[in-house]
Amino acid sequence: MIGICLCLKINMSFYSKVVTRPFLNNLKTSFFRNKIAFFVPVRLINWKHSKVRHSLINFGLHIKQTRSRFSQVPVMGAFSPLDPSSFSRPEQAVIKHVTLSLNVDFENKVLNGSATLDVDVLQDIGDVVLDSSELTIESIELDGAQLTYKLDDPVPNYGSKLTIQLPKRASSGDKLKIKIKYTTSPSATALQWLQPAQTSGKKHPYLFSQCQPIHARSILPCQDTPFVKFTYDAEVTAPEEFTVLMSALRGESRSTKTTFNQPMPLPSYLLAIAVGVLEHRTLGPRSKVWSEKEEIERSAWEFAEAEKYLQAAERLCGAYEWKQYDLLVLPPSFPYGGMENPCLTFVTPTLLAGDRSQADVLIHEIMHSWTGNLVTNRNFEHFWLNEGFTVFLERKVKASLIEDPIEAKKSRDFHSILGLEELSEAVVSQLGVDNPLTRLVPDLHDVHPDDAFSTVPYEKGSLFLRYLEDLIGGPEVFDDFLRSYLKNFSRKSLDTDEFKAYLFNYFQDNEKLKSVDWETWLYKSGMPPVIPDYDTSMTKPITALVAKINQRNASLISYQDVQTFTPHQIMIFLQELIKHPPLPLDILHTLGAEYKIDSSKNTEILYRWLRLCLRSKDQSILGEVFDFVNHIGRMRYVRPLYRDLYDWEDVRNQAIENFLKNEQYMMHVCAHTVKKDLHLID
Ligand code: BES
Ligand code: ZN
Repeated sequence: MIGICLCLKINMSFYSKVVTRPFLNNLKTSFFRNKIAFFVPVRLINWKHSKVRHSLINFGLHIKQTRSRFSQVPVMGAFSPLDPSSFSRPEQAVIKHVTLSLNVDFENKVLNGSATLDVDVLQDIGDVVLDSSELTIESIELDGAQLTYKLDDPVPNYGSKLTIQLPKRASSGDKLKIKIKYTTSPSATALQWLQPAQTSGKKHPYLFSQCQPIHARSILPCQDTPFVKFTYDAEVTAPEEFTVLMSALRGESRSTKTTFNQPMPLPSYLLAIAVGVLEHRTLGPRSKVWSEKEEIERSAWEFAEAEKYLQAAERLCGAYEWKQYDLLVLPPSFPYGGMENPCLTFVTPTLLAGDRSQADVLIHEIMHSWTGNLVTNRNFEHFWLNEGFTVFLERKVKASLIEDPIEAKKSRDFHSILGLEELSEAVVSQLGVDNPLTRLVPDLHDVHPDDAFSTVPYEKGSLFLRYLEDLIGGPEVFDDFLRSYLKNFSRKSLDTDEFKAYLFNYFQDNEKLKSVDWETWLYKSGMPPVIPDYDTSMTKPITALVAKINQRNASLISYQDVQTFTPHQIMIFLQELIKHPPLPLDILHTLGAEYKIDSSKNTEILYRWLRLCLRSKDQSILGEVFDFVNHIGRMRYVRPLYRDLYDWEDVRNQAIENFLKNEQYMMHVCAHTVKKDLHLID
């Protein structure tokens, strides 16, 4: 009961408070529901050696064994001093350009061909160290001469260190052209090879990639660290009826061969490829949308405003330098909402809500053209420099399209409050306030970036920037700083210390900056130390409605309650209810039907509705929940739903069984993280 009271209190007063540690500890207790005292019917037998955590699972009556995709005992090669997630040594030699020549083999589910790396030598070296994952290497040449190389045993989830021996030592200023002939593996973690049944057309297979954070190494041998940026050319061969797209400018496409050129330097995680039977529509002077035929009209409508957003983004950040901004709407197993692949943002089809209400994701990916793609985090410990900045810019740009400045601030604050709700769910309810992964700058020396992924870098990061903006003097001064920062670090990679140094240098005379508690903001776990004084006018009707629902009187619930609500207000409303004690089933069902939520076409709403039903242990919703997680691969939805299913003891085994049956249709990263959520691996 105490927990419940606290929970309600927080909703009223949370947003305008300086959050103190005791306050947060209370918050933790109140939100910490059902997390420790589970009876776990799954017996885990673990043995650990450093990054290896293989598990055998005795599951229910039918003993089922799942194994990690790597069966070899790893030999830990030294990781890069600049990036805990890469073996490569870019301080010694650095890739400047890549020439790819690849053949798409749908039958064998492999890419095969060659990658030619133009390498600038920076130090006296006898070898070049690269990242690779499950690649079969045929040969490595330097100026036509064969080189010897060593491929270490794989370290689970990090791949194998590839050491290429040079015929003679190279020294600073030397330029090397290394050609590697290779084939990828059908289980390459960056690639999803879809069967025709997993596409809308049902007739042809489909291939797409997802390299961020560290999966590019399963597509090509490279320095798979965002510290390194290279330009690239590619020539890709695929069966004639297929369209090949990449994160680059598309050149000629003649019968089976398509060429690409990316003249802007990009980190390996932004390399992308998609191959399918596709159509396109023109959205604007520099934009097209691509998808299978079945989605093309809906896609063209949903994203029609791309050019308007690009122009608003340019007003804030300066010229768009990537020339083309296309969108590709992928099949539903795509694991993210959007991925900012240069020249070609990848998006989930769940954005096709039919009401443009998910424009935020489009604006978000557009903003990455500056923060992330032009100015890049040095490694994934500094991921907030990509995502926190992008969320911060996304909300600014969205608000800049509203003429009335008061309404614009309201909108920006409203979206920030939704973000804060999600942050508090992640930090307080899910990860725990003491979890080191809730630090803005986490230590990834023993943690895979996919396992560290959460809303923390997004929301804590953007909140930190908002705090700095308010402190330093508001958008008038901070927008100029942002433009200067973007210009200074354009085409470079940086870390948090470099950001801090640049900020201090730019605002030398600003006394207020001295009051920032950097240690807490950057390195302490938990919720942010200060919450901005957000305008709550758009959340007031939601708070009132939540109070009304909590009266638990079904006859008070009618459509009029939400008639004027925007889709985002419905989202916050449901997000709030999810945090509250479970609703009785009669209230839940009346609410779902009256507010027309249970039949919503908007997946942001539907997903929250399903979670709310799971919270109330509504058996009748289970079929729909399983359909949803089996059909949609967007991790932002799938993971919380599976976690909720796991938390519900009676359906836990059913959830695990369902996952194991469908794992084969999921992209690697989604299957891997859900497996963790279901405690099938550590
Ligand atoms: N770059 C991310 C997606 C990503 C992050 C892929 C880390 C792999 C590793 C993308 O820009 C993103 O943030 N997508 C969000 C959109 C949202 C915040 C508007 C998503 O997928 O939900
Ligand atoms: Zn992003």
